[in-house]
Amino acid sequence: RTYKRQMQCRSDIERLNAPFLAIVESLIPAEEEKAKQKQFLTLLKKLISKEWPEAQLFLYGSCANSFELSNSDIDLCLAIGDSDINKSEVLLKLADILQSDNLQNVQALTRARVPIVKLMDPATGISCDICINNVLAVVNTRLLGDYARIDARLQQLAFIVKHWAKSRGVNETYQGTLSSYAYVLMCIHFLQQRKPAILPCLQGMEPTYCVTIDDMECAYFDQVEKLYDFGSRNRETIALLAWEFFNYWAYRHDYTDTVISVRTGNIISKRAKDWTRRVGNDRHLICIEDPFETSHDLGRVVDKYSIRVLREEFERAADIMQNDPNPCVKLFEPY
Ligand code: CTP
Ligand code: MG
Repeated sequence: RTYKRQMQCRSDIERLNAPFLAIVESLIPAEEEKAKQKQFLTLLKKLISKEWPEAQLFLYGSCANSFELSNSDIDLCLAIGDSDINKSEVLLKLADILQSDNLQNVQALTRARVPIVKLMDPATGISCDICINNVLAVVNTRLLGDYARIDARLQQLAFIVKHWAKSRGVNETYQGTLSSYAYVLMCIHFLQQRKPAILPCLQGMEPTYCVTIDDMECAYFDQVEKLYDFGSRNRETIALLAWEFFNYWAYRHDYTDTVISVRTGNIISKRAKDWTRRVGNDRHLICIEDPFETSHDLGRVVDKYSIRVLREEFERAADIMQNDPNPCVKLFEPY
């Protein structure tokens, strides 16, 4: 009987497939929006090259891989060849230049973990953050984008999870919940773990791409066009995967002893990373290893209070998908 019930439950979940795909479709930014971004980038490049003719402006974050929902902010990195520059000075100068060109809400946040200038372009309504020489972010953006090209289900799952997290208010690092970047890594890890696997572990394969950034070697197999049928033996649908994803984080993940690691394509022990206790502000209550900066736990922002909020939201999502008569509304209900 339990087997029968399980099968019944599965077929209930499968009914969510079409509505989930429709939600994903509706979240993809329109061509018009991408065109506005281009226009805005051209303007910025022009302004910046006057002051720093050698510098390059890179797009990173969701606008530069496949994880962008419509109306996202854009993340930019100003790469100034010189590594001895004083970032704060550059940021203040940059803020000055942008301010005098009628851009709005220009703010230099020089003390943040990643110092940035924030601004808004009144002509297009686009907001953006600009950081300096953060090449690592450009490279990890590329890794996530390459994973997305292997199997369409990653983008679908990440869209559902990001949309859920934004709707439920659990995508706010300053409130102790997780960044979009962390959620996408959770999705990649989850798809690496399916049986049969839907995604490979690109950093576990013979590297075809390699750069060294601040003494960190970032290497992985990037000829993903050779992996397009990697996940084809697994026929799981987006509805089933989203349900299993929430179930995993609600009921099956071992929060006490384990770290999820896209780098190894596996789970590793907290002990091996020495992430077993609180050090300073890092509590390691949910551990997500950064694929390149391996000493960085993306769960470090999560505290005693917000871990409860997060886990309750995972449970809520899993239960709604299983039991609610109208899950597509309930799941994304504003908190
Ligand atoms: N990033 C990082 N380390 C973090 C957070 C972010 O390196 N702890 C970098 C990653 O390169 C990531 C980018 O910053 O791709 C943007 O992060 P985030 O805004 O969290 O992700 P987006 O994909 O841009 O999501 P959103 O659409 O919500 O802005
Ligand atoms: Mg972003």
